[in-house]
Amino acid sequence: MKISILFVDDEKDVIDGYKRMLFSMRKFWDQHFAISGEEALNILAGNNIDVIISDMKMPVMDGTVLLGKVKELYPHILRIILSGHQDEIKIIMTTTLAHQFLLKPCDTNKIKQVVENAFSMRNNLENEKLLSIINGIGQLPTIPELYLEIEELMKFPDVSLDKISKVISRDPSITAKLLQTVNSAFFGLPRRVTNILEALSFLGTNTIKSLILYLQSFTGRNLPAEAITYYENIGNHSLQVAMIAKEIGKYEKQDKQVLDDIYISGILHDIGKLILMQVPDYFGKMIELTTVKKLKSIEAESRLLGVTHEWAGAYLLGIWGLPSTVLEAIAYHHNPSKINTANFSALTAIHVANAFYYFKEESFTEKKPDLDFDYLKNLNLISNLENWWNSTKIYREPIHE
Ligand SMILES: [Fe+2]
Ligand SMILES: [Fe+2]
Repeated sequence: MKISILFVDDEKDVIDGYKRMLFSMRKFWDQHFAISGEEALNILAGNNIDVIISDMKMPVMDGTVLLGKVKELYPHILRIILSGHQDEIKIIMTTTLAHQFLLKPCDTNKIKQVVENAFSMRNNLENEKLLSIINGIGQLPTIPELYLEIEELMKFPDVSLDKISKVISRDPSITAKLLQTVNSAFFGLPRRVTNILEALSFLGTNTIKSLILYLQSFTGRNLPAEAITYYENIGNHSLQVAMIAKEIGKYEKQDKQVLDDIYISGILHDIGKLILMQVPDYFGKMIELTTVKKLKSIEAESRLLGVTHEWAGAYLLGIWGLPSTVLEAIAYHHNPSKINTANFSALTAIHVANAFYYFKEESFTEKKPDLDFDYLKNLNLISNLENWWNSTKIYREPIHE
């Protein structure tokens, strides 16, 4: 399916530049161009647009007003801001107007990469259903601003932990939640940490960054009382899966990059459940099917919605710009053999860790119900299972505060 993109910029030269640069992409993208907000709205009304990439500063209707309208009228459209000023981007990051931000001048490759990454999962999806569900929910949550700020800082190789800790500490509620989480028995820190700087030096910036994404997606929403426990359970499960999976990665001597991907994939692997929860009239029925009728969550999801949480999650994270290794791990965590892979990856670790989590027996047997044996056999990893099982024991125990 072709992706349909609308570029908006009041400078004709910039628009002509896009046209030239993106000429070769016409096979894959339907391209539309507008030189004002009004023109953009007309194009939106007459076409099925998937992505809007808009300038900020425009006369009459500026980018923020335009994107505000798009958000309201076409909530499913991916909104990208392209701005010449870092400061403008910082301001817009505090709103939910855009899903992604690009700094001018922005080369074609960067645009291609962002759009393709955002949509890499879409071709594999039962599009129509998922998109209509996402339309029904209304808003796709935007990526937490603090996360983006830390990502920006980490682009400077010599950024100090002190600087990162100051940025995080500006937000008292996330600071409190972070300290509470890292001090839980879970992380097994040698002593109680009392500030973000200590937390960063014990656990590393990447872990803290993932935790911020996790804490900001899993808490602080207005949820009905009965949904809060469910929400928290997913949070605890995800944290535990992340730890088990990372341990498996360490056992397999994976490098730091892969271990980071594993950790963040673990933390976010079930985030799709939170998206689906927002579908009207769904939550109660899903709880009934999974608790009373004992259906697995993916069975309940496909029965009720025709779409499952792995895909909803991968879709959202694609829009947030997470790397394809993470998207793959999330999209296939229940059925890894559905994708052709030859090597151990974040997907392997998440799939196995998730299955281990649900397997509560003390002793190891190979026949764990949720494991995809064909997949593990293909990767020649069946014989490693027992070692993984033994080396992750401490993380599989229930957490006691
Ligand atoms: Fe899952
Ligand atoms: Fe899970």
